[in-house]
Amino acid sequence: MESLKLAPDEVTHKMVNTAVLDLGVSASELLSGEDKARLSRQPSADRAALDGRVYGHLPILCDEVVQALQPDTYRKPIFVDATFGRGGHSRRLLEVPEATVFALDLDPSAVSEARRLASIEPRLMPVHAAFGDLIQVLPPATELQGLLADLGVSSPQLDQKHRGFSPIEDGPLDMRMNPRKGIPASEWLDNVTPEELAWVLCSYGEDRDPFLAARLAEAICAKRPLQRTIELAEVVADVKAKTVGSSPFQQPARLVFQAIRSHLNQEVGEATRCRLPIADAWGGAQ
Ligand SMILES: C[S@@+](CC[C@H](N)C(=O)[O-])C[C@H]1O[C@@H](n2cnc3c(N)ncnc32)[C@H](O)[C@@H]1O
Repeated sequence: MESLKLAPDEVTHKMVNTAVLDLGVSASELLSGEDKARLSRQPSADRAALDGRVYGHLPILCDEVVQALQPDTYRKPIFVDATFGRGGHSRRLLEVPEATVFALDLDPSAVSEARRLASIEPRLMPVHAAFGDLIQVLPPATELQGLLADLGVSSPQLDQKHRGFSPIEDGPLDMRMNPRKGIPASEWLDNVTPEELAWVLCSYGEDRDPFLAARLAEAICAKRPLQRTIELAEVVADVKAKTVGSSPFQQPARLVFQAIRSHLNQEVGEATRCRLPIADAWGGAQ
């Protein structure tokens, strides 16, 4: 198995292993009623110990993703978790003897959690950065054995109403992975043309229906200014009810939120920017 030497100016497609998946299911949604009741009875120390597995973001396919990186092949491997979140994958990678994990995330609250974990596990290296800047933030000539990127929104981000990621929680229409940078979705929506919005909805929303995207975009622009998540969700639900009907399996505005969030945070652009072979895989796993 080849390893990868990264130098600051070097751009390479030869990432040894890249695993991409997106979860977007809150941990609490995955727990049975019985599990929830059991956990709520647990003393807080037990809950803290379970933190990485149950609370926050429950990383589905964690073992499979980590195995894809073939962690047993190397001595003192160096991995990158490009999207730390609450560290489900990083924690699992740190179980590999002598592994070092560089953990990147754009979200300050994710980085705080990474720093908390790093204070007890010095083999974890938290970095507050976009993975598009990976080459710049890794120490020069790092020999990297594997990278994983778990794209999308994390459960804590969905659960924090004030972040504006969830179409079912009322909050300000923000959707920034890093709330200290860029503009909130409400401001972007104020200025976007219906044509550009339709393109975004069609490209990143996965409906792939240009007529539906155009109708949604027209309706959203007609209702501006939209300040709250619920306002946007209602416009979308209304259009969908009149056109495609509602699905019992999906919140009607989920794909619209996904599209706006992806565009605003340049999720695909980030993958392309760091020249990792994940841009092509994007879209299949949301
Ligand atoms: C699906 S979650 C990852 C969950 C993580 N695997 C876990 O087990 O907890 C995606 C994370 O990627 C982060 N993120 C999104 N875009 C990013 C980017 N360009 N660079 C770094 N992190 C990013 C988000 O802030 C979020 O925390």
